[in-house]
Amino acid sequence: MLNVTVLVSGGGTNLQAIMDAIDAGEIQNARITHVISNNPRAYALERAAKAGIQGEVLSPKSYDSRAEFNEAFLARLQEINPDLIVLAGFLVVIPEAVVKAFPYKLVNIHPSLIPSFCGTGFYGLHVHEGVLSRGVKVTGATVHFVDEGTDTGPIILQKAVYVQEGDTPEILQRRVMEEAEWKILPKAIDLIAAGKVSVDENRIVHIAGGYPSV
Ligand code: GRF
Repeated sequence: MLNVTVLVSGGGTNLQAIMDAIDAGEIQNARITHVISNNPRAYALERAAKAGIQGEVLSPKSYDSRAEFNEAFLARLQEINPDLIVLAGFLVVIPEAVVKAFPYKLVNIHPSLIPSFCGTGFYGLHVHEGVLSRGVKVTGATVHFVDEGTDTGPIILQKAVYVQEGDTPEILQRRVMEEAEWKILPKAIDLIAAGKVSVDENRIVHIAGGYPSV
């Protein structure tokens, strides 16, 4: 059984998608043991509570320096010792020490087709604003392992979503979530729990059985 810790900051719709997929048997052999938010007001914490998971808050704001927060964050994760850490809309930069302590055990969902519209500054609505102002016709979402860079880790799953006439950043954000994020994030967790995801020496991800239908 894969013990999963989910890190959140906001609405928690991706957390909800994971919990629903576990309930529906679409994710097998995995359970969420912990939910950690940096934001005490995150609705994600209520979603966790409704599912019987007592969330916890770990915020940089409660520490004198980022270094102290980073230390406490690493210590808490080492105490939990999860098999997988899922960043589901987590807006805090992951300290390098955490990446090093959990190699290929951290995954993130990003709301674009990496390497487009990713990296520093591309979070939340900014991603979709970038897509609309460049006028690309296809966007999507990416699940990737987290490395020391920003959105630079090995790509696990991607799904494309069409941009439509009249889209606003908000409308596009919602479509990317519904059509891509809520599907590929649970799918990636299921594949990892089934031991089907490997990373080669060139940091390319391979999926046993081929790319899944998502
Ligand atoms: C999603 O768009 C995700 O891709 C991004 O942050 C948003 C989180 O939404 N990283 P939610 O909290 O899961 O509803």
